[in-house]
Amino acid sequence: MAVIGILGHGTVGSGVVEVLLKNGSGIEKKTGTVLTVKKIFDRKSFPDLPYRHLFTKDAGEVLDDPEIDIVVETMGGLEPAFSYTKRALESGKFVVTSNKELVAEYGPLLQKIAHQHHVEYFFEASVGGGIPIIRPLKQCLAANNIYEITGILNGTTNFILTEMCKNGKDFESALFDAQARGYAERDPSADICGFDAQRKIAILSSIAFGQKVLYTDINTEGISGITKEDMLSAEELGYVIKLVAHAARTEDGIYAMVSPIMLPLGHPLADVEDVFNAVLVKGDAIGDVMFYGKGAGKYPTASAVIGDIIEAANYQPNSSGNAIMPDEVSATVLDSDQFAHKFFLRLKLKDAKGFEKEIATCMQDAKVHIFKNPLLAGEAGVFTGARKESELPLIRDTLASLDNTAAVLNVFKVSE
Ligand code: HSE
Repeated sequence: MAVIGILGHGTVGSGVVEVLLKNGSGIEKKTGTVLTVKKIFDRKSFPDLPYRHLFTKDAGEVLDDPEIDIVVETMGGLEPAFSYTKRALESGKFVVTSNKELVAEYGPLLQKIAHQHHVEYFFEASVGGGIPIIRPLKQCLAANNIYEITGILNGTTNFILTEMCKNGKDFESALFDAQARGYAERDPSADICGFDAQRKIAILSSIAFGQKVLYTDINTEGISGITKEDMLSAEELGYVIKLVAHAARTEDGIYAMVSPIMLPLGHPLADVEDVFNAVLVKGDAIGDVMFYGKGAGKYPTASAVIGDIIEAANYQPNSSGNAIMPDEVSATVLDSDQFAHKFFLRLKLKDAKGFEKEIATCMQDAKVHIFKNPLLAGEAGVFTGARKESELPLIRDTLASLDNTAAVLNVFKVSE
């Protein structure tokens, strides 16, 4: 039997308790392990819950209880989650978490503390919600030299972009829906500004490339500047706009970024809609492999947490071969300007007549499209050839200064 203490009864913590209550006997049949929740720490009261007797407002009742073997940290944030996790590991308790902020910042350190005390720090739920991705990367794909990971790693922003694209919703009402469904972070700017995806790609690339990738080194852009008209323009051109997290191993170091990108329809990530996440991994032996599933929400994330609880309950020293995270030495993350992309610029025109000719005089490799959708009347789209990001201000200025241009409305990176 494994005795569990839970820190934080929010969306994920409450999901863990509910799934354990509902599926506990099935889990026991499948794994031979009885999982019992002994205490739940939360500052709020839950007088109406059938398991209300398990609650405590004193974290020490979880952390200092010698009967508790596994602590589930579903509080989120850095503090007090870091101190509580450290204390639990130092007491020889396994810790299972969904807290990507903590894993991205202190994962290697907490793992080291865990190993010093002959336990483990598990964090499958920190990336991709319910999708098994961390253990597959570390174990099932261990034979590979993994050289690229590209993913849609934030359910909230993917839900918002899908609602804007498919249902014509505006940004605010789509965000409100995502929050109501429990997808968003406590502070949704972590989702919207791309910081949540930034931490997740830092965790995945650290594991895949075997060097700690600092999330602060990852060039990150969010979705708050995307409009319904951008969505319509992408659609007319056969693209969809997604918030994409990408990391690649090169000879000189690691390239990583989080950014809205125009993906051509037919790209493996283009059809990933709603709260779904997907991770496309490229390895030298396997080729391309894609992981897909619900990337946020109470029960999908609880599913991943419970998978780790079962792993902890059946843990044999060294059974997982070696550490999940690389050590604390940081990887060289390359400056984003070392790589070129195609860009798309959406323009408002004074006059469409003669615009293509005018462009041809200043950007020979540009491709121009005059929009047909009446909602985009008087607009054009310009695709550049492969350019470095540092060239963008000049490209913008050049296009803005043309006689036929009224304004440059927005700019996106374009994927092949
Ligand atoms: N806010 C996160 C998301 C939750 O929307 O993906 C899961 O990490």
